[in-house]
Amino acid sequence: MTRDILVTGGAGFIGANFVLDWLRKDGADGIINVDKLTYAGNRKTLASLKGDARHIFSQTDICDRAALDKLFAAHKPRAVVHFAAESHVDRSIHGPGEFIQTNIVGTFTLLEAARAYWGGLDDVGKAAFRFLHVSTDEVFGSLGPNDPHFSETTGYQPNSPYSASKAASDHLVRAYYHTYGLPVLTTNCSNNYGPYHFPEKLIPLMINNALAGKPLPVYGDGLNVRDWLYVSDHCAAIREVLARGRLGETYNVGGWNEKTNLDVVHTLCDLLDELRPKAASSHRDQITFVKDRPGHDRRYAIDARKLERELGWKPAETFETGLRKTVQWYLDNQAWVEDVMSGDYRNWLTKQYAA
Ligand code: NAD
Ligand code: DAU
Repeated sequence: MTRDILVTGGAGFIGANFVLDWLRKDGADGIINVDKLTYAGNRKTLASLKGDARHIFSQTDICDRAALDKLFAAHKPRAVVHFAAESHVDRSIHGPGEFIQTNIVGTFTLLEAARAYWGGLDDVGKAAFRFLHVSTDEVFGSLGPNDPHFSETTGYQPNSPYSASKAASDHLVRAYYHTYGLPVLTTNCSNNYGPYHFPEKLIPLMINNALAGKPLPVYGDGLNVRDWLYVSDHCAAIREVLARGRLGETYNVGGWNEKTNLDVVHTLCDLLDELRPKAASSHRDQITFVKDRPGHDRRYAIDARKLERELGWKPAETFETGLRKTVQWYLDNQAWVEDVMSGDYRNWLTKQYAA
């Protein structure tokens, strides 16, 4: 076993932030970055790692067992951090098949490959190995306005094909611990935002549309609530759980930042009015209410006290500081956005928003 870790989905939003943050530290262990490069994966996000021997990229589908076996055998990682997934709820409504394939079959295939590799390690290697599964708060379903926050003991009630597929993957990970003793850890995190966020998701979509003078499409009444966490805080939480989390446990990760979608869009508009003012009007004038998402969960809110109590993790960013950094990042990195926008993504925008 080497000191390297194997990361899946490390060319996507959170995975790439994790890889970049990890390798920013002097003396960091190496990363084998396994990503299929779907529409959501982008090697340009990892451009700063060119020539860095600590980063090995492999364009591989996590459903490909033979390829995974080869990667485990060649690199002998001490841990797996599993981000790879189909992640967009709206896409899961249009076409759930890929979600079942990657999120369930892919996680199963990765678990099987990890179990086979782990089974061949010596006792010391076996005890040190970790499989960390990155999951979501959406598995818990939807909260009413006065319901308590989601805790680690909240029952699973997924409502979209995306969240149902993530719930299934969480159950598989749990079963591999109880049945085979595979040393697993699971994190269930709330909505992330920050640099390199694919512009199909609320915050980067609104920033891009606002800058382009397009409508800002708010679903339904705009009063659905999400609990926002700056992406580097999520990455820090994952590092803590990987290093010191208790085996077989799940840890909720969240920023204590409940906001309605309308609040988020208003704050974004106000930041843009300050940083990139329009001649005679506010960006708020671009807000348009559109047809609601089917099965739209009303409210998510995470109780992250277990993570704080056991591992001392707390978010470093407030919503205000994180959102300002994010808007500034998109203003400074329009080339990255334009590159994403020039591809297949345009077809998705037509499919989802044309009506
Ligand atoms: P993303 O869609 O931005 O990135 C997913 C990455 O996985 C892409 O690079 C893609 O190419 C890769 N991928 C997809 N299918 C693959 C396959 N079959 N084999 C290998 N690679 C594949 O997603 P994200 O927002 O970065 O989310 C990462 C993980 O975190 C997901 O598991 C998601 O469920 C979870 N999560 C996301 C959030 C959030 O707010 N974005 C919150 C909590 C949890
Ligand atoms: O809670 C964690 C989850 O957060 C992750 O598991 C998912 O991978 C991630 O995509 C995210 O899911 P959401 O569905 O909450 O994120 P999204 O950015 O798609 O939407 C956030 C809210 O904004 C949601 O209430 C729907 C609304 N929305 C979204 C879009 C894209 C709009 O009103 N208009 C839009 O155009």
